[in-house]
Amino acid sequence: MKVLGIESSCDETGVAIIDESGKILAERLYSQIELHAEYGGVVPELASRDHIRKITPLLKDTLSEANLILEDMGAIAYTAGPGLVGALFVGASVGQAIAWSLDIPSIPVHHMEAHLLVPFLAQDSGLCFPFLCLLVSGGHTMIVQANGLGDYEVLGQSRDDAVGEAFDKVAKQLELGYPGGPAIERLANQSESRRDNFPRPMIDHPSMDFSFSGLKTHTLLEYRKTAQTHEEKADIAYAFQQAVTDTLFAKCQRAMAQTGMKTLVVAGGVSANRKLREKFSQLEDANVIFPDMNLCTDNGVMIAYAGLQYALEGKFAGTNEIKVYPRWPLQ
Ligand code: KG4
Ligand code: ZN
Repeated sequence: MKVLGIESSCDETGVAIIDESGKILAERLYSQIELHAEYGGVVPELASRDHIRKITPLLKDTLSEANLILEDMGAIAYTAGPGLVGALFVGASVGQAIAWSLDIPSIPVHHMEAHLLVPFLAQDSGLCFPFLCLLVSGGHTMIVQANGLGDYEVLGQSRDDAVGEAFDKVAKQLELGYPGGPAIERLANQSESRRDNFPRPMIDHPSMDFSFSGLKTHTLLEYRKTAQTHEEKADIAYAFQQAVTDTLFAKCQRAMAQTGMKTLVVAGGVSANRKLREKFSQLEDANVIFPDMNLCTDNGVMIAYAGLQYALEGKFAGTNEIKVYPRWPLQ
């Protein structure tokens, strides 16, 4: 069986086809970064319109690269949430329309679950349930205990900004453009002082919750106070990135100690951060697994892969309506 996956929850239009073994047969990804860059963040209405413009050509290109036609598909998976309502509707409408016209199953996919599952595709990961997962994206920061497909327990989450959101907002304050994560990472690499003097929020709090809003404000105040030169700005980016990484690390250590689980998956857009990968690779007595670099940020492959898992387990229900869930709890 071949599964077509469609991602359109935010500012990336992703289309991919995988086969039953999880092999990627073809993939296309279009990023709207340039469209939103001048506004310093995603403009929802522009995002929806651009998904509409791009989705059909991407579908055609993906099919032709795989040398397949729609009739070869066994199921259609699409992101049904969480995300921007208009953007989600584009992928959901196209996905449902294809499924209805071919009379094949459609599988609405939870975007964060797709991030959580895609590390199964990492080579030689040996990943199997149960495991702990740190999910770090532009909209979510969570520590999840993944017991099995569709069986997730959220152990902790951000009480305010998501990590990716904090990266994006700090980058905006530092006038580094959008998206912020890669820009902060690049600048942090240029820090010579490597001064590591920012607070680690909620690190002593017994819960596994996070809060990044205070750190974001601290970073802004430090920027206003000290950052006159490029070097000083790089030092601030460095200190911010260190504080975030250390905080995530400490909370995951706590989650592992409390649950006794030894496998930790780190997934979502922020898992592309090299400093974070480096730090987590040092976790002692643990098996830490990341998605492949090209599958960290949003893409169609992760949606096709999540859909495939549900298709293989026969866990899907037919529908005669198009439904999306802009806010959709994982648990
Ligand atoms: O998972 P994702 O592509 O979209 C959402 O589901 O939100 O994550 C996007 C987020 C953005 O906030 C972006 O700044 C962040 O991931 N990000 C990074 C890096 N690459 C992307 N953050 C830190 N370092 C990076 N290298
Ligand atoms: Zn995402």
